[in-house]
Amino acid sequence: MTPYLSDTDLPALPATRPPLAGGPASAANSPFAQDLLAALGSRPRSISPKYIYDAAGSALFDRICQLPEYYPTRTECALLQAHAADIADLAGPGAEIVEFGAGSLRKVRILLDALEAPAGYLPIDISGEHLLAAAAELRASHPALEVRPVVADYTAPMSLPAPPGGAGRRIGFFPGSTIGNFTPAEARAFLRSAASVLRGGALLVGADLVKDPAVLHAAYNDAQGVTAAFNRNLLVRANAELGTDFDPQAFDHAAFYNAPLQRIEMHLVSRTDQQVTVCGQPFGIAAGETLHTENSHKFTLASLRDLAASAGFSAGPSWVDAQGLFSLHWLVAPAH
Ligand code: TRP
Repeated sequence: MTPYLSDTDLPALPATRPPLAGGPASAANSPFAQDLLAALGSRPRSISPKYIYDAAGSALFDRICQLPEYYPTRTECALLQAHAADIADLAGPGAEIVEFGAGSLRKVRILLDALEAPAGYLPIDISGEHLLAAAAELRASHPALEVRPVVADYTAPMSLPAPPGGAGRRIGFFPGSTIGNFTPAEARAFLRSAASVLRGGALLVGADLVKDPAVLHAAYNDAQGVTAAFNRNLLVRANAELGTDFDPQAFDHAAFYNAPLQRIEMHLVSRTDQQVTVCGQPFGIAAGETLHTENSHKFTLASLRDLAASAGFSAGPSWVDAQGLFSLHWLVAPAH
């Protein structure tokens, strides 16, 4: 069970962190260090994408969302706008919105502004800084809304505060096709745990669709190199937090569509034979060897519904843009 905190319980974090007092040795116990050591020691080398998203990674991701090649964000926002009235009808009055990840306020605002007297907003995010900034902004523009940020890893089983008295349905919101960044097994586990906190309510999820690989390729290999910088941020963060000695420029950004697995894979490819030191341990990385940093699974309407059904949801309506790029799904959470 993950404890929840109110924003007043959180320590203020400086924007840039000084090196850890104990040096790299004390950083060795952190989950990031443990996962990085495990990744470098295994074949194929692969690490959870969540470490890309520190403050710098989140800022780069915000820039990705505005890139001309990156269609998912604007397509999903347009879908939310176009179907806001239908969504509000399904949610009913007094709904409480639970957002998994304190993502883009732009998206949740479309939802909140369409709903009839939403009772509350609970953003769940592992990054306290990002979460509190989002909560403060939303409080300022929606003074009647009860905003209760929850600092937690939503990929682990969650416990949420009880809904405010008189609240309507609890509606989960999981936009951005973040569902596709999980493995299918992780996605199912997440959906099961979401179903349990949303009991009797519903989940609104955004899912990117299978399409022409050239369109996908452009979206994940932008001309300005923002996605490449986002990918390399994993190494930049390791250097800052763990005292590792990666040369981020000694790794190429590689993102390609793996058609049999229906996913974009993102890797860091070593340009040369090199050696890196992580928490005192040396690792050799040969030219051409990769560290697999992220997946972005693509769905069909049927594959997303099947996945949701396997976690106990029953599928309500889905909405797709005219070009068939992106989908929104209303998934009803079982009452028990
Ligand atoms: N949820 C986003 C997506 O799957 C995350 C993302 C943005 C991403 N850029 C990426 C994932 C590059 C992998 C590679 O599109």
